Amino acid sequence: MVRVLFVCLGNICRSPLAEGAFRAEAERLGLDVEVDSAGTGDWHVGHPPDHRAQAAALRNGVDIAGLRARQVRPDDFARFDYVVALDTHNLADLLALRPVHSQAHVSLLLDFVPGREGQAVADPYYGKDGDFDIAWADVDAGARALAHKIAALQSSG
Ligand code: 4NP
Repeated sequence: MVRVLFVCLGNICRSPLAEGAFRAEAERLGLDVEVDSAGTGDWHVGHPPDHRAQAAALRNGVDIAGLRARQVRPDDFARFDYVVALDTHNLADLLALRPVHSQAHVSLLLDFVPGREGQAVADPYYGKDGDFDIAWADVDAGARALAHKIAALQSSG
């Protein structure tokens, strides 16, 4: 079992999209994984994903309506094998929160996509519907790449 946590700022746009995209790819690949998402901020705790994020996911056949936002906590670094930041601010916040002896792999989502290392998934919150489709395309690329990496690791034992 591999545990993966996706983290953005509000946990209502990008990280729920990443969670949905990763869950879908993990199912297609038959991976043994646990998936969750969280925000570095607490403004939206308990809220469902932004309706524009829900719509973008549905346009791609993925239903994220049941997700609820929560804030990331220090013990997430013990519970999850991969803690995956959506942008560089999220990554810096996670590195500051990470307990010193944590073994969790902490990185950007797009670090898993060859040629896109170091890149952020842009925050669509203040954007238009098209920005949510761009966010979906980015998180889907990252989620597929991470799922294939985990599949390769699981098959090599
Ligand atoms: P997310 O987008 O980090 O992708 O969930 C945001 C959601 C809410 C806010 C900012 C970004 N906010 O400022 O409330």
